[in-house]
Formats: sequence, structure tokens, C-alpha cells
Amino acid sequence: MKVTISVIKADIGSLVGHSVVHPKIIEIAKKEIANANKKKKIIEDFFVINCGDDLELIMTHRNGIDNKNVHGLAWNVFIKCAEEAKKMKLYGAGQDIISTAFSGNVRGLGPGIAEMEFEERGSDPIIIFMADKTEAGAWNLPLYKIFADPFNTAGLVIDPKVSKGFIFDVLDTKEGRKITLKTPEESYELLSLIGAPSRYVVKSVRRKEDNEIAAVSSTEKLSKMAGHYVGKDDPVLIVRAQSGFPAVGEVLEPFANPFLVSGWMRGSHHGPLMPVSFSHAKCTRFDGPPRVIAAGFQVANGKLLGPVDLFDDPGFDYARNKANKIANYMRMHGPFEPHRLPLEDLEYTTYPEIEKKLKDRWKKI
Ligand code: F6R
Ligand code: MG
Ligand code: MG
Repeated sequence: MKVTISVIKADIGSLVGHSVVHPKIIEIAKKEIANANKKKKIIEDFFVINCGDDLELIMTHRNGIDNKNVHGLAWNVFIKCAEEAKKMKLYGAGQDIISTAFSGNVRGLGPGIAEMEFEERGSDPIIIFMADKTEAGAWNLPLYKIFADPFNTAGLVIDPKVSKGFIFDVLDTKEGRKITLKTPEESYELLSLIGAPSRYVVKSVRRKEDNEIAAVSSTEKLSKMAGHYVGKDDPVLIVRAQSGFPAVGEVLEPFANPFLVSGWMRGSHHGPLMPVSFSHAKCTRFDGPPRVIAAGFQVANGKLLGPVDLFDDPGFDYARNKANKIANYMRMHGPFEPHRLPLEDLEYTTYPEIEKKLKDRWKKI
């Protein structure tokens, strides 16, 4: 019997600006899921956590992806939490509840979603990455390294079960289209697209040999859904590991180097993605730098064993130090690119007003 992992997340308000989810909201979410499931059994197991100001519902069930009952459950939890957040006057209460018209699926309503369904293996490790103050394209670089870069993943070279390659499903968020590319044979074409993460986003990765799902990311673009700025996507990613997939350590390895992502202050700056423990998922300096946490679980008979806080490890101290150095260096540029995003990617902008104000003062050259 197949198991489905659903990670559904939303920023429904936070404590001290956009820093963290209030512990009371996490308790409400846990209670609401448990109560709803008592009335009608929808899910097998769940875990609630926050990454910065994002509330993350990690659920296992037998209903497949895009299931009305599972999405409905998550939606009701967010509505209840947002109500309480409003009462508490938490900052940005209800921020990601863009539409209130739930009709069976939370896609397009505000929350971010990553879901995958698979036949449970003899032993099935998964890693759920959750990021704050960045966008969905932030997973492009690590996904490429995990599944297509032999300098990252030794298994691509020395494990016959991994070396046949992978298939990447890529979305073009500008044109609203998608494409499938295979590695290693189409690596250059793939890189040419996903190297532009503000436009092209890896949605999922499958194993070439048997089409088995290996990774799924959330790709909701909040700013596009709302038509105006409502916050970066702050994406999540589910990756399967071991026996025929990259090992846990190979999946974590790309985060040992804090690569630059867009997001950070006002969703409008480039900065390093810092891998942190659960307790350090709290964006403070200049509302950042952007953070990522990794929760490791064993999926066992539909239940979640764990989590293990995988970045809570001195092995990632160097990455954190380096991220702080990069943050200093990037901050030095103040309002200049490449720290500030190019004009067309800014989430907040006074640019049209400035253009209007100065329009009669330009002289032809
Ligand atoms: C970035 C983010 C924050 C806010 C910033 C301004 O994703 O959430 O950096 O953009 O704190 O917030 P407002 O406009 O709510 O004052
Ligand atoms: Mg927020
Ligand atoms: Mg956030």
C-alpha cells in the first residue's frame, strides 16, 4: 500500500515582525490536526514545526497527492491558527491566506505544498528541507548537485543503483509551461535553465531507471498569486535517500557551502542560505540571512520516525561561519546590486513612482 508525504506550509503570522511562529500557534496546529483526525481518520501521522515565521505541517497518509480531505484538513488548521494569530495581534496575521475560497485544494490559495506518493521500501529515509526568507528556485542548485553532480554525489560514479541518472521536471514560472530533462545527457541544457532560479524552478526529480519519485519541491509563487507582494515563497523540499537514491550525507552535502539565494530583507536581496538547527531558524540580522533546516525521518508503516535535526551538527559550523562572512560582504553593498535584486525581481519597489516623479527632467543623449 502506497504512502503519501504531504508538506503543507503557510506564514499565518509571527512573533516580533517576521521572525518566528508563536509556540501557542504550533500547539493549536497540533491540537487541530489531532482533533480533526479523531473525527474522521484522514492521516496516518504528522509532525508540526516552524522554520522562522512559516508554519509547516508534515503529514503521512494513504490518500495520494492533491487529496481534498488532506488539503481541507491543512486549510482548516491554517484558518484556525490565523484566527488566533489575529486575536494575539501577531505580525502579518493571516499573511498567506490569500483567498478564502477553499474548494478541495489549497494550491493557488496561499500555502506552499510539496507532496509525493511511493511504495514504502524495507526501510525508507526521507529528508524534509524547509527554508525561510527565500524563493522556490533556491532548491535548484542543491537538487542539481544531489542528483546530477558526481563531485557532490559519489553514488553517481560508484553505485550502480544510482548511476543510471535522473529526470528533472522544470517549471517556467514566467511563461507557465514545463519541461522534462534527463541527466547526465541533458545536463548542460538543464543548467542553462535552472541557473536562472527566479524564473525556472525544479518541481520534481525522478529516477530514470524506473521513474521512481526522488524529490519534490513546493513551487507556489506568492507574489504572482496575489498580484502584489505578500512575501517570498519560503519553500519546502522532500528528498528520498539511500538504497538507490543518494545517501543522506550526499543529500545534505550541497548545503555545506552557503550558496547565494534571493530573498532576505523585503524579499529583495541576494544573500547566503545558512543551514541551521531547528532552534536557529530565526531570521534576525537584516531579516536574515535566509535559513534552511533539514528534518530527517524514517517512514515506517506510514508513520514518521523522527525527526533528526540534521543541520544540528558541528559539520555545518564552517558553512555557518562562511555564511556570516558572505552576509557581511553582501551587506556592504547596501542598496546596490548584486546585493539588491535587479529592478524586475524586487518584491517591494518605489521605482515606478520615482520614474513618474523624474519623467520631465530627463534629457536626450
Ligand atoms: C522577507 C520578509 C521581511 C519583510 C520586512 C518588511 O520575506 O518577510 O523581510 O519583507 O520585514 O515587512 P513589512 O512590509 O511587513 O513591514
Ligand atoms: Mg512573515
Ligand atoms: Mg517566512
